[in-house]
Amino acid sequence: MPLVTTTEMFKKAYDGGYAVGAFNVNNMEIVQGITEAAGELKSPVILQVSKGARAYANHTYLVKLVEAAVIENPEIPIALHLDHGDSFELCKSCIDGGFTSVMIDASSKSFEDNIALTKQVVEYAHAHGVVVEAELGTLAGIEDEVVVEAGHESYTRPEEVEEFVSRTGCDSLAIAIGTSHGAYKFTAAQCTRNEEGILVPPPLRFDVLEECMKKLPGFPIVLHGSSSVPQEFVKMVNQYGGNMPDAVGIPEEQLRKAATLAVCKINIDSDIRLAMTGNIRKYFAEHPDHFDPRQYLKPARQAVKDMVAHKIQYVLGSDGKA
Ligand code: G3H
Ligand code: 13P
Ligand code: ZN
Repeated sequence: MPLVTTTEMFKKAYDGGYAVGAFNVNNMEIVQGITEAAGELKSPVILQVSKGARAYANHTYLVKLVEAAVIENPEIPIALHLDHGDSFELCKSCIDGGFTSVMIDASSKSFEDNIALTKQVVEYAHAHGVVVEAELGTLAGIEDEVVVEAGHESYTRPEEVEEFVSRTGCDSLAIAIGTSHGAYKFTAAQCTRNEEGILVPPPLRFDVLEECMKKLPGFPIVLHGSSSVPQEFVKMVNQYGGNMPDAVGIPEEQLRKAATLAVCKINIDSDIRLAMTGNIRKYFAEHPDHFDPRQYLKPARQAVKDMVAHKIQYVLGSDGKA
C-alpha cells in the first residue's frame, strides 16, 4: 500500500486501546531497523523527520528511503510525518514534498498565536490531503531549539484543549503530562533512587490526560518525549567509553497505560540513538582493527530493530494491527 495519513491508524488505535509508534529517522539503517520490526510484527508505524534530520540527510534522501521501506513492506501502513515543524514554510515544504502528516509546534507561542499558526497550516494541509498534529503545553528538554529546564515545563491546561482543537481544526494534539525530550528527562532532585541507585522518575500526570480526554472524547492524543532510556543501553555506552550518568526515561508501564487511553501516537527518538551508540561503542571496543562501516552499522541496525520490536509488542500494543 502507498504511504498513508494517520487518520485511519489513529481511529483503530483509539478504539483498540493501543498506540502507534512514531520513530525518528535520520539515515538508512534507522529506516530499515524500524520498518523491518514493524513489517515482521504486522504493525502500523509512523516514520518522522525533524527539521534537524532534514538538515542532516536532505529531504529527498529521507523521502526516498521511506518510499523504499514502503515498497519493501507492502502489508503495513506507514505514515511519513514532519516532527516539530516550527513554521508555515517548513510545513508547506513537507506537504508539497510527499509527507502525509505534519506537526506544527507553536506551543512556545501565546495561545492565540498558537491557534493562528496552527490554523494556517491546517488549512493548507487539509487542502492537500495531509493531516496536522498540534501541541498545547510545554515539555521540558529541547523543542524547536528552545531549551526548557526540567521544572520549568508547563502541563497542558485541559480547559483550553476543546477551544484549541475546534478553532484550529487540527487532527491530533500533543499534550504535556510530564514527559520530556532527550536522554536526561529528569534531574536527580526530581527523582527518587531504587536499590540499585538508578533514578526513578516522578509519575506522569494521568489526571491531566484524563481531563483532556473528557474534553475531547474520541480525539487522538500524542505523547512526545516518550523514550524509556533503557538502562541496558546506558550501561553499554558507559562500559565502552561513554559517559552518560543519570540518564533516565519514562517507565514503559506508564507508556503502556497511556496507550490504552486516548494516546494514539508515542514518539521515540532517544532510544534509537542509545541503541545505536551503545552497540557501535561495543563493536569498536571489541574489534579495534575493523574499519568497514557495514561491520559496525549492522549490529546497530539490528539493535534498532530489536528495540522497536520490543516497543511494538510490550509498550505500544500495535503488533498484528496492520
Ligand atoms: O523531539 C526532537 C526529536 O528527538 C528530534 O531531534 O531535532 O535532534 O532531530 P532532532
Ligand atoms: P525522546 O527524546 O524521548 O525520544 O522523544 C522524541 C520526540 O518526542 C520526538 O518528537
Ligand atoms: Zn517531540
